Amino acid sequence: MIVTTAQLFKHAYGKYAVGAYNINNAEQAMGLFKGAIDSKAPFIIQISKGARNYTDKRMLEAIIRSAGEIFPEAIFAVHLDHGDEQTCYDCIDSGFFSSVMIDASHDPFEKNVEITKRVVEKAHAKGISVEAELGMLGGVEEDIVVEEGHSCLTDPAEAEEFVKQTGCDSLACAIGTSHGAFKFKGKQSLHFDVLEKIKARMNGFPLVMHGSSSVPQDEVARINAAGGTIAGSMGVDVNEYLPAAKLGVTKINIDTDGRLVWTRVHREFFRDKPSEFDFRPPGKIFITEYAKFIASRNVLLGSAGQLDDLRKSLGK
Ligand code: G3H
Ligand code: 13P
Ligand code: ZN
Repeated sequence: MIVTTAQLFKHAYGKYAVGAYNINNAEQAMGLFKGAIDSKAPFIIQISKGARNYTDKRMLEAIIRSAGEIFPEAIFAVHLDHGDEQTCYDCIDSGFFSSVMIDASHDPFEKNVEITKRVVEKAHAKGISVEAELGMLGGVEEDIVVEEGHSCLTDPAEAEEFVKQTGCDSLACAIGTSHGAFKFKGKQSLHFDVLEKIKARMNGFPLVMHGSSSVPQDEVARINAAGGTIAGSMGVDVNEYLPAAKLGVTKINIDTDGRLVWTRVHREFFRDKPSEFDFRPPGKIFITEYAKFIASRNVLLGSAGQLDDLRKSLGK
């Protein structure tokens, strides 16, 4: 059942974080839905502009609709990840999305406000909520690369002003994470001080953490042992998800970790079976492994086991 992102946030705020997982194809969709049901967790499906262009946006929408029929007990929202203005309007008009993200965080504050306000107006007219971003994460967002050292943390006073001026429904804050598999040079904690200050000003307002993959080191080791070269990658400490959720981080974005599961499964499969050329056996393994990964993440986010209570609170 597709619900609004606002409904998910209302149930989760201050208690747990809803996992927001990016998908591009049918195998990811099957693994995601299976893992969510196995862990009895609500979730958000994220679709990036790149994902919409990978096969065809209609194909992706059809896959999600079908997954919703195959797993009728699932409760989820559909969200545009890192949208530009035009993509936001396309998704708002599609009638399929629960929420969109307008990412104008690379623009100066005033321009970010201006663009976000326009999107909020159009989205709210159709009952769709809007995530905006303030501050700048390192790494790659769609086609924009932010070099290490050029990222900047969200300023709490600016965040309050930004939300007041734009009317956005949730805010992606830069609290030390970045996109991709190479987040930090060494172990690094989230900036809980920034979260505390934002919460003190905007208690009850849902925050979003991008770049939240944990880049499991055993996964990386297996990938490298099977021919990969992604040494030195590092991610977010999974034990910090729940403390962040208690400070208002209501949506936690995870994409890279799923790609690592895919890479490990396929590298190991074809290393061990060099004469194989049927893609379905490793595809099947990936679905199972991705489902296990999703369920394990939902436990760490605190969203596991929330499905029945959410259903009751929605009156379904
Ligand atoms: O933040 C970016 C997400 O991981 C989506 O990545 O634009 O390559 O689909 P993508
Ligand atoms: P990761 O690269 O850490 O998975 O972040 C994903 C993300 O923020 C999607 O918007
Ligand atoms: Zn992101």
